[in-house]
Amino acid sequence: MTNMAASAVAVQPPGPPLWLLAEVTYRCPLHCVFCYNPLDFAAQGKAQELPTADWLRVLREARALGAVQCGFSGGEPLERDDLEEMIAEAHRLGFYTNLLTSGVGLTAQRAAALKAAGLDHIQLSFQDSTRELNDFLSHTKTFGLKQQVGELIKANGWPMVMNVVIHRLNIDHIDRIIAMADALGAEYLELANSQYYSWAHLNRDHLLPTHDQLKRAEAITDEWRVKLADRMKLFFVAPDYHEGTPKKCMNGWGNVFLTITPDGTALPCHTAKMLPGLAFPNVQTSSVREIWQDSEGFNRFRGTGWMKEPCVSCPDKEKDLGGCRCQAFLLANDPAAADPVCPKSPHHGVVKAAVEASEAGAVPVRPLVFRDPKNSKAFVSPVGQ
Ligand code: FES
Repeated sequence: MTNMAASAVAVQPPGPPLWLLAEVTYRCPLHCVFCYNPLDFAAQGKAQELPTADWLRVLREARALGAVQCGFSGGEPLERDDLEEMIAEAHRLGFYTNLLTSGVGLTAQRAAALKAAGLDHIQLSFQDSTRELNDFLSHTKTFGLKQQVGELIKANGWPMVMNVVIHRLNIDHIDRIIAMADALGAEYLELANSQYYSWAHLNRDHLLPTHDQLKRAEAITDEWRVKLADRMKLFFVAPDYHEGTPKKCMNGWGNVFLTITPDGTALPCHTAKMLPGLAFPNVQTSSVREIWQDSEGFNRFRGTGWMKEPCVSCPDKEKDLGGCRCQAFLLANDPAAADPVCPKSPHHGVVKAAVEASEAGAVPVRPLVFRDPKNSKAFVSPVGQ
């Protein structure tokens, strides 16, 4: 029996893809060192992007299948001048719509047009609370503009989620980051410790915090939670490298999330395309229903039927579903292995070594690499490190 046949037998029919993530473009004016877009993002330029009519069809098909939330993301989704049209259609279909943006391109005119289109919610990203580091990490001068966009979001009456990717270089500013979000009137602040995929994986040895830094940051976050009470909700997403606990990645492979990349490739998570031996369908040749229910790419790691040791006999296998498939590939060179952040994984030493190097202040072998079309061609992911 082939693996594919074995997984097909074990897999229960999936529920609907509740969350549709429309990555409408990889174009982006920023150059963040922790970007989760694939390293080879430049191969999907403007000419490869799905046209408006295809995106509108994808929205209709996903909604008919039961999707309820739609995130418009990228790259920078405001790079698409048909964004308002897509959001209007998503709103008409009954989606709860989110825009995930760096803020670059969100003028007063576009904000008014997005409001009229029915956009429900904006997530604005900052890189830091200081102009110097925000602008360094994104390799742009955008700190002042982001402040203005924060005010514009509030002036339009949108609830604001502020998102800051946390890592070794900005984690000691956590107090100022929370104060900045509070001053801008954010309702939610996501302090998302960097996950080490794509550009963040390439730059991991610069970005991994120490245990002490994490402990301090969590304590400061807890103090703010008391001070803020209901004024702002703080989400501190702990890093799995340090926790030693595999996360139930994407809430289960092909369980809740459906990501469509700019060229129409459908993925269970935004980095899955790098996994070897898997064919992922495209919305230009398959319906969203076929993709979600029948495709090999979405069925391969659903449930627990694909597992091998140590996952298959682990009492936590239903809880964590073996952790993250992309991380298993990046760190163990095998997407069907136990996630190496788990102490039971035979590859756990790779994770321990990375954390120990960060504790010891080891100097990374390579300078920071910025997300940039020219670097997109120059680097491949360092698999197995
Ligand atoms: Fe791809 Fe976790 S990021 S499965």
